[in-house]
Amino acid sequence: MHTLIFATNNRNKVAEIQSLVGNNFEIIPLKEAGIEIEIPEPHDQLEANAQEKAMTIFNLTNQDCFSEDTGLEIAALGGAPGVKSARYAGDNSNAQANIDLVLSKMTGIENRTAQFRTVICLIWKNQTYYFEGICKGQILTTMKGENGFGYDPIFVADGASKSFANMTMEEKNQFSHRKKAVTQLFEFLGTL
Ligand code: IMP
Repeated sequence: MHTLIFATNNRNKVAEIQSLVGNNFEIIPLKEAGIEIEIPEPHDQLEANAQEKAMTIFNLTNQDCFSEDTGLEIAALGGAPGVKSARYAGDNSNAQANIDLVLSKMTGIENRTAQFRTVICLIWKNQTYYFEGICKGQILTTMKGENGFGYDPIFVADGASKSFANMTMEEKNQFSHRKKAVTQLFEFLGTL
């Protein structure tokens, strides 16, 4: 079994990715790897943030690792909240405040097209690789559902009949941006 450090402290993401991985790889989140740092996300591109996170962990551990950065990109808001998704309503904002801000900015707007976009940066044997997953959908006018995290209560994927927050993790994985990016990552690793 090969060990890969996943540069995150987000338990939901670890659980989602763990549910996608076979027995060939053991995914180690930062805490389990003994790394207790807050990794900065200073860039205005998902790719650059993902790269910075992965390099930070690689420089600390010298081990194979990957990071991911995800943004919700809403067409009518010019791609916002995008790379600022985690802190859209302010530096210490929570999911509810971010959702409230999106819903208020979207009041009266008919075009509710949006997408989640995930970028994964893998550092494998000193080489850097990128993978991307996109899930297109619509922004709801009110919150629906209790599951998931972040913007899940206000996002319905194309082809789905309920919000991400009304889905089980298995259902969400049938549509998920992260699942698509992670699938590419593990297909790639499988070819090595
Ligand atoms: P991160 O920078 O990759 O941690 O993600 C930024 C923010 O995007 C998170 O704090 C969430 O608000 C949001 N986000 C990322 N992935 C998802 C998802 O699968 N569902 C809902 N919101 C998400």
